[in-house]
Amino acid sequence: MSDSVTILGIETSCDETAAAVLRRTRQGEVEILAEIVHSQIDEHAPYGGVVPEIAARAHADIADTVVARTLDESGLALAQLDAIAATSGPGLIGGVMVGMMTGKALALATGKPFIPINHLEGHALSPRLADNCPFPYLLLLVSGGHCQFIEVTGLGAYRRLGSTIDDAAGEAFDKLAKTLGIGFPGGPAVERLAERGDAERFSLPRPLMNRPGLDLSFAGLKTAAARVVEQRELDDQGRADLCACFQRAVSDCLAGKTERALADFKTRHAGSLRLVVAGGVAANQTIRAALGHVAQQAGASLIAPPLQHCTDNAAMIALAGAEHLAAGTVDGSGLAFAARPRWPLDEASAQSDPAYGGGKKGAKA
Ligand code: KG4
Ligand code: ZN
Repeated sequence: MSDSVTILGIETSCDETAAAVLRRTRQGEVEILAEIVHSQIDEHAPYGGVVPEIAARAHADIADTVVARTLDESGLALAQLDAIAATSGPGLIGGVMVGMMTGKALALATGKPFIPINHLEGHALSPRLADNCPFPYLLLLVSGGHCQFIEVTGLGAYRRLGSTIDDAAGEAFDKLAKTLGIGFPGGPAVERLAERGDAERFSLPRPLMNRPGLDLSFAGLKTAAARVVEQRELDDQGRADLCACFQRAVSDCLAGKTERALADFKTRHAGSLRLVVAGGVAANQTIRAALGHVAQQAGASLIAPPLQHCTDNAAMIALAGAEHLAAGTVDGSGLAFAARPRWPLDEASAQSDPAYGGGKKGAKA
C-alpha cells in the first residue's frame, strides 16, 4: 500500500447531504481536498423537525450533484480514489439508503472497494480530522439522535460507559424549540434566546444526577419544560428565561456525568486524560464551557472538533473509511452490506444491556 489513501465519503443519515474527498497518510496526517455539506433545514423548518420521507427525497434529489461537485473541487477523477465510504447506518433509513446506494453504484462502476461506515464511528473519530488526536480518549457524543460516553481505545475499540436511557440531548433541545415555536433546528434557536434569559427563574429537574452510574436522561426535563409552557402565558422574556434554565439544566447534567466519567476513565488511562466532545450539541457554547471547566478540574485536555465537523459531515465518514482501509479492517461484506437503521457502536454492551430501544428493532445504543 502507498503512503497515503484517498477516499470519497458520503453522509446522508439525517438532514444533511454531504460529500468529502480526503487524503490520509500512514502517519495520520489528514488533508481534506474538498467537502460540501448541503443542509435541508429549509425543507424541514415548516414542520419543526426532520420529516423522514422529505429527507429521503431531498437526499435522492441532490446526492449525485453534491458528490459530483465535491469531486470537481478536489481536482481528482474517480479513478484516482482508493475507495468509497458511505454512512450505512444508523439513521433515518430512507436517507441512509440513498447515500449508501450512491456509494455502492460508484464503487461498482469504478471497481473500487465500498466501505460501509457507522455514522457514530464517524463522530467518534472526528477529532482526528484536525489533531491526529491519539488513542485512548473519552468521547462524549451528544447529537440529535445519540447521547453517550464511549471509551475509545483504538480503531474499532469502543466501549460504552453510559448512555441516555430515553431522549438524546439534541432531541430535547429540538422539542423545546418546537413547543415554544422558536424555530428549527432547536439547539441554536434555544441557545440564541437563552443569551438574554435568566437561568434562575424556573426550577427544572436534573434527571439521574443523584443516582450512581454514567447514564443520562432528558425526557423528564423535556416534560418539565413543556409543563412550564402549558401552565403560563410566556412573553418574550419568559421564553428566553425558560431557554436559559433549560440550557443550564442540560449543561449541569452533561457536566456532572462527564466529571464522573472522567474519574472512571482515569482509573484505566491516568497517563492520557483526553476528553473529546462531538455531535451537534457540542456546538453549544454554555455546554462547551461547562465541559471545559470539568476537564480542567480533572487535569484532562478538552478536544472539540471545529463546529463544521461537530455536526454531520462527510469528512468524518471519509476519515473512518481511510483509517479502516489503512488498518486492513474494512467490513468484508462490501456491496452486499445491508443498511442498518440501528447500529450501536458497542454492540456487545448494547445487546447485554440495551440502554434504550430494544425489542424487535434491536438496541439503539
Ligand atoms: O450531530 P448532528 O448534526 O446530527 C445528528 O443528530 O447526528 O446534531 C444535530 C443536533 C440537533 O438536535 C440540534 O438541535 C443540536 O444538535 N444542536 C445544538 C446546537 N447546535 C446544534 N444543540 C444545542 N446548542 C446548539 N448550539
Ligand atoms: Zn450525527
